[in-house]
Amino acid sequence: MAKPESLDRRRRGMLLTGGALAVAATALSARRTFAQAAGATGRSGTKLRIGVIGSGHIGSTVGGLWVKAGHQVLFSSRHPDELKDLVAGLGPLARAGTVAQAIAFGDALLIAVPYGALPQVGRDNADALVGKIVLDACNAVSARDGAIADEVERDGIGATSQKYLPGTRLVRAFNTMSYKILASEANRPDPKMAIPIAGDDAAAVLVAAGLVRDAGFEPVVVGTLADARRFQRGGPGYGQSVSAAELKQKLSLPP
Ligand SMILES: NC(=O)c1ccc[n+]([C@@H]2O[C@H](COP(=O)([O-])OP(=O)(O)OC[C@H]3O[C@@H](n4cnc5c(N)ncnc54)[C@H](OP(=O)(O)O)[C@@H]3O)[C@@H](O)[C@H]2O)c1
Repeated sequence: MAKPESLDRRRRGMLLTGGALAVAATALSARRTFAQAAGATGRSGTKLRIGVIGSGHIGSTVGGLWVKAGHQVLFSSRHPDELKDLVAGLGPLARAGTVAQAIAFGDALLIAVPYGALPQVGRDNADALVGKIVLDACNAVSARDGAIADEVERDGIGATSQKYLPGTRLVRAFNTMSYKILASEANRPDPKMAIPIAGDDAAAVLVAAGLVRDAGFEPVVVGTLADARRFQRGGPGYGQSVSAAELKQKLSLPP
């Protein structure tokens, strides 16, 4: 029988191994974050695997811009067969799959479903979503989404999305402009069109900022999820096809 000291040593060893794994995972995530942040000034060359939940107007447009920037994108649908033409048109970096496959695939996720579907996506994929960086482009519209739009009005869209996607590293992004404008204005000559973003997880916000840049826009960090109210439907930052400097001025953010 092992002596108490050697048991202790073994337990300590196991704890250290677990700790080392956690540190390695954090380092990997940090490298990714750093690479994305470096993209702010000169494009780091790092490419991500991105899962898109809801490959309709917004999901296919933004996901397509990321494919053009060299990222691998898994577009998902409840009917993945219907995405064959989309992914064939985008080439080998694009693939189609189920929502569960997109979540497993992505270093980062974009969710672009009708807001009323958000609770169900959160419930159906609760475990898989924990810890995932999620860029949330969903808007709540009473006529389409029902009572949840009142909740968004009352509590703010950042808090409401986080409630229905618990444990995710949520960043509000790509919700303010029509997909047609996103498609036509991406990668325009400087000054690029601004995309407001907001989140509570600083590293996730950095990753989101890098992805906004890679899609061909200039990110403007508005603040935490509570501040996402400032660019939800009806807010002063919503629907503004302007440069980053102009958006910051409109929102009284430092230049
Ligand atoms: N359209 C715009 O210009 C725009 C701009 C900014 C923000 N938004 C917001 O972005 C979101 C998406 O808008 P959209 O115009 O792209 O809508 P859309 O073209 O109708 O696409 C939404 C996609 O969501 C998927 N979906 C619906 N219910 C789902 C569920 N329960 N689980 C999983 N997937 C589900 C559908 O995919 P399958 O049926 O294939 O599963 C559908 O392709 C909305 O919240 C909208 O307010 C839209």
